[in-house]
Amino acid sequence: MVTAYDAPFARCAEDAGIDLILVGDSVGTVVLGYDSTTHVTLADILHHTAAVTRGCNTAHVVSDLPFGTYQASDADAIRAATRLVQDGGATSVKLEGGVRAAQRIRAIVSAGIPVMGHVGLLPQTARLGPGFKVRGNRELLLTDAKAVEEAGAYAVVLEAIDHEIAAEITQALRIPTIGIGAGRRCDAQVLVLHDMLGLFPNPPSFVKQYADLAAQTVAALERYARDVREGAFPAD
Ligand code: KIV
Repeated sequence: MVTAYDAPFARCAEDAGIDLILVGDSVGTVVLGYDSTTHVTLADILHHTAAVTRGCNTAHVVSDLPFGTYQASDADAIRAATRLVQDGGATSVKLEGGVRAAQRIRAIVSAGIPVMGHVGLLPQTARLGPGFKVRGNRELLLTDAKAVEEAGAYAVVLEAIDHEIAAEITQALRIPTIGIGAGRRCDAQVLVLHDMLGLFPNPPSFVKQYADLAAQTVAALERYARDVREGAFPAD
C-alpha cells in the first residue's frame, strides 16, 4: 500500500501494481503544508479521494476518516464514511484507534462499508499523548489490535510499533497487518508517497527513499527558466 492524493500519482501507483492506495490524512502535512494531520477536514479528504479515484481504474482506494469526523457518535462515523464512498468513490475507509475505536468500526461495517483499522502511533492524537515515539506496550498494543479485528476490520495498519511486538500481533491476528515503521514481519507495508519519493523534507527515519523527485523537479525548473531567459525556449 502507498498513499496518493491526486490523479497523476494514483495512476502511477496503479500502473506500478500497488495493491492498495491510501488517501491518507497525511495529505495535511505532505501536501497542504499543515504541521499535523489533525487539521485535515472531511472536505479535504473528499476532494483528494475523488481526485484519486478519477485517476485510477481498478485499484482498491482506502480513504482516511479525518480527526473529528468519527469520535462523537456512530451516526457521525457512518455519515462521514458514506460520503467518502458515495461522493469520493472510496472502496473502504480507515480510522485510528484500538479498543477506543472498536464501536465505530462495528457501526461502519454494519452499514456495509469495509473498514481498515490503525493502531500503535496514532498521528491524529499523538501530540495530545505520548508524541511520535515508537510504541512498545505489548499488552496494550495486542489488546488494541485484537479489538479492531473483533470489531470487523478487514486489515489493520501497525504504525511505529516495536518490531517484535508487530510480529507477534501479525501472528495473533487473522486479518492482514500493514506495517509502517513496524519492522519487516507484518503481512504488508505502507509508505507515505511524498516521503519515499523525496518530496517531503523531513521524512521519518524508517522511510526508504526510492527517488529524489524534489531535486529532479528543481533541476528541471532551473533548465526551463534558463532556456526562457536565454531565448532557447520556445523555438521559432
Ligand atoms: O495518513 C496516512 O498516510 C496514514 C499512513 C501513515 C498509514 O495513515
